[in-house]
Amino acid sequence: MARIITITSGKGGVGKTSISLNLSLALAAEGFKVCLFDADLGLANVNILTGLYPQGDLESVISGRAGLTDILIRDYQGIDIIPGSSGVEKLAELTRDETGTLISAFLDMEAYDFFIFDTSAGISSQVLSFCMASHEIILVVTTEPTSLTDAYSMLKVLSKHGYECPVKVIVNQVMAGKAAQKAYARLKQTVTRFLPVKIEPLGIVASDKNVRASVISQTPFFILFPDTAASKCMAAIADKLIRHHGKAGDIPLELFWDNCLRFLENHRPRKIEKTGDAKAAKPDPDVREKLSQMEEKLSLLIKEVGEIRKLLETRALIPCPEPEEIILDFESWLAAKKG
Ligand SMILES: Nc1ncnc2c1ncn2[C@@H]1O[C@H](COP(=O)(O)OP(=O)(O)OP(=O)(O)O)[C@@H](O)[C@H]1O
Ligand SMILES: [Mg+2]
Repeated sequence: MARIITITSGKGGVGKTSISLNLSLALAAEGFKVCLFDADLGLANVNILTGLYPQGDLESVISGRAGLTDILIRDYQGIDIIPGSSGVEKLAELTRDETGTLISAFLDMEAYDFFIFDTSAGISSQVLSFCMASHEIILVVTTEPTSLTDAYSMLKVLSKHGYECPVKVIVNQVMAGKAAQKAYARLKQTVTRFLPVKIEPLGIVASDKNVRASVISQTPFFILFPDTAASKCMAAIADKLIRHHGKAGDIPLELFWDNCLRFLENHRPRKIEKTGDAKAAKPDPDVREKLSQMEEKLSLLIKEVGEIRKLLETRALIPCPEPEEIILDFESWLAAKKG
């Protein structure tokens, strides 16, 4: 059993990969055995941040050409890494045999305390399948309204699919504690008002020039600059994750994969059957009624979206009411850490 955490965002470029990698290292520094699964198909993936260029990826495991141990990158600065790469795209269309091969490959893996899944930007079925199968999700946002709107869309889709566990939020690239606090409060208010899913703050990561410097030198900032603000933020987030260990996060890997692949199977795009029957093209007699109901729903939806936009983008804000949630006071937190 391991804690399986999926890191997602909705919007691209907000810092999922930087956080996945450096959080994995921060957890390993606390003595935990961590495996980072690189499920990011984008350009800025774990390979680039680490300078590692693996030969195989998950696709070779799915096709039976290699075992997981062949593609696993062992002990990179204390963590293991699975390069998902093109194999992640393949997950959506596995045959029964390939599903079996994949699940049994993971069954043979040694035990880990944490599995961290770094996902691609956007709300693809693969990203959703990882989220829905995990009992812990970290949603990365920045203070930008577009990031908050995309994060809200992600939460809405998760709610629609019945996701029930509270989603943990990290505000990244923070310039000032107040801005982070406001951004979080704005998201919280909107989610509380419109969605059944719950969110809770996990922490913030400072906007730090050493993060970019570490990308250039292809060495994670947690290793290269252990005392920089972003590294201290990562250590604090790792501490919080370790302290708040609900049993819900622990799931057997086989159950995770089973849930993940079942979700993908159930959400495959349906093929439209072509028929030469002219009658089949004729509208249903109830179609007018159904259309007007849809129109009504649509206009309600447009109104709701307008309200959500206003809430997420507005500058004036009602102060966040829950005192235990004010962990985003960055300046005083940093001062205490330095002291
Ligand atoms: N706290 C930070 N301070 C400064 N720069 C940061 C910070 N976090 C991330 N960045 C920079 O933002 C850029 C995007 O980061 P990253 O690749 O981790 O985002 P991502 O969400 O994984 O992107 P994608 O959606 O493309 O996968 C990188 O150049 C990274 O160096
Ligand atoms: Mg990424």
